[in-house]
Amino acid sequence: ASTLGSAAAAQGRYFGTAVAAYKLSDSVYSGILNREFNSVTPENEMKWDATEPTQGTFSYTSADTIVNRAITNGQKIRGHALAWHSQQPSWAQSLSGTTLRNAMVNHVTQVATHYKGKIDSWDVVNEAFADGSTGARRDSNLQRTGDDWIEVAFRTARAADPAAKLCYNDYNTDGVNAKSTAVYNMVVDFKARGVPIDCVGFQSHFNSASPLPSDYQSNLQRFANLGVDVQITELDIEGSGTAQANSYSTAVKACLAVTRCNGITVWGIRDSDSWRASGTPLLFDANGNPKQAYTAALTAL
Ligand code: XIL
Repeated sequence: ASTLGSAAAAQGRYFGTAVAAYKLSDSVYSGILNREFNSVTPENEMKWDATEPTQGTFSYTSADTIVNRAITNGQKIRGHALAWHSQQPSWAQSLSGTTLRNAMVNHVTQVATHYKGKIDSWDVVNEAFADGSTGARRDSNLQRTGDDWIEVAFRTARAADPAAKLCYNDYNTDGVNAKSTAVYNMVVDFKARGVPIDCVGFQSHFNSASPLPSDYQSNLQRFANLGVDVQITELDIEGSGTAQANSYSTAVKACLAVTRCNGITVWGIRDSDSWRASGTPLLFDANGNPKQAYTAALTAL
């Protein structure tokens, strides 16, 4: 196949990208988006601050633009993210306890209901575990409402949109380490107690300080063995040339080697679209030309 999306589809997978609504009028950007990708993740437009800027007042215009366009183009949609410590509206940041818990539950219900039937996979909870060796939860206003906030978010999302696959998503969980093992243990516990969870997302933001781990595939596999799908959700790899291309190839092959790894999403289209302040972590250069990394990813599929 000649595009990332069609090559992934031939393997029973999707190949997606993060999309920013304000860039869709850029014809180079939307041209690559239409040609190459068969899944999209709104980069910021579905986050709490974007969708509920004032408590109880929901704002879906930008996210709807991305969603409706994706449906027209036959692309899957990853919803991102219902409950997260970051990019909360200021009104939520100032809440705590039962008030915050109820606001979170209402937010999950409203947003998941608005997009009911349209979302392939939802990142229900994003980045709830701490970095480092403790395996602890990350401290946040949501965490301080009680350990059960994660399972409450998942049960609430399931009730609102029973057809969407419900994912837990995080970073620094790409290899086997204390943080990924803590997430693993949560999935074991959720499966044992019937908390609805269908997938785990591995953000996969790699750079020289945090390179593609050598046990990436085996880590994906150990989660898949628990009976959840696994997805590479925000892939970007700092660097250039052959080294970067080889890392992209390795990451794609790791997913394909895991039967339940059903999709790969890169976190932006061109290097100039990246959230990273500097560097060239993506598959297309600033002019929209495919890089060596692109050819490597396509060849690996
Ligand atoms: C980033 C976006 O790319 C930026 O535009 C925004 O300013 C900050 O958030 N982990 C996530 C994503 O789950 O939502 C983040 O996206 C990148 C890290």
